[in-house]
This record gives sequence, C-alpha cells and structure tokens, in this order.
Amino acid sequence: MAATHIYVCTTCKLADEAGLATTERAGARLHRALNALAEERLAPVDIIPVECLSVCKRACTISFAAPGKWTYVYGDLPAETGADVILDGAALYAAASDGLIPWKQRPEALKRGVISRVPPLAPLSERQP
Ligand code: FES
Repeated sequence: MAATHIYVCTTCKLADEAGLATTERAGARLHRALNALAEERLAPVDIIPVECLSVCKRACTISFAAPGKWTYVYGDLPAETGADVILDGAALYAAASDGLIPWKQRPEALKRGVISRVPPLAPLSERQP
C-alpha cells in the first residue's frame, strides 16, 4: 500500500501573526510540528511541503492524497495543535481503500475544515463515454 501523502502549505499565515515573537509562518510551524509528531509515532506518511494550496483565507491548509484515492483539502487547522488531528485523519484515510473517510469517524476539525475533495485519476480506458 502506498503511503499517504500529506501536502502542507508552508506559506499559510494567520491574519494576526504580526504580534507573535516568531517570523516563521503558521504553515511552516505546522509542517515542522507534523514532521516531529510523525517521526515520534512512526506514522507511515510522506509529508510534503508546498507553497500555497489556493485556499489562503483558511490557514493552515493541508491535503491528503494517494494513488487511486480521492484527494481531500482541509483548512482552518491550528499550527501548534493541528498535527495530532492531521495524523489521526491520515490514518483513517490510509485505512479507506478509496480515501473516503466515513463522516462519523472523521475528527471534528476535519469535518469543519473540509474544503474540497477531488476524485482519483482514472485511466482513459476506465472512463465512461
Ligand atoms: S498560502 Fe496557504 S493556501 Fe495559499
């Protein structure tokens, strides 16, 4: 089974970041926290930093993707505390053969933060006429 890809927007920033002591953007902080927790949990995920998922008003934003599965984009995830729920969601995503996480099992932050889902790429031979 291919590892779940977690794309993390590292350029996401919060509207009120000006008052923070750090200059590191919220998305970069989430990416760092996610890497640390995934290493601690030995989570079978590939965490891939990206610059912008085009939902900048919903920082922090991430995406789950894997070959043959639906792709999900989530937003409104907190930089400092979002890693835990993201890895929980990634485990559910990995367990679903098509990537569709049953709504009742989905962590609250992912229910509230879902932005879009995109069907898996289908080979031309499998497409309906
Ligand atoms: S800067 Fe994060 S989605 Fe655009």
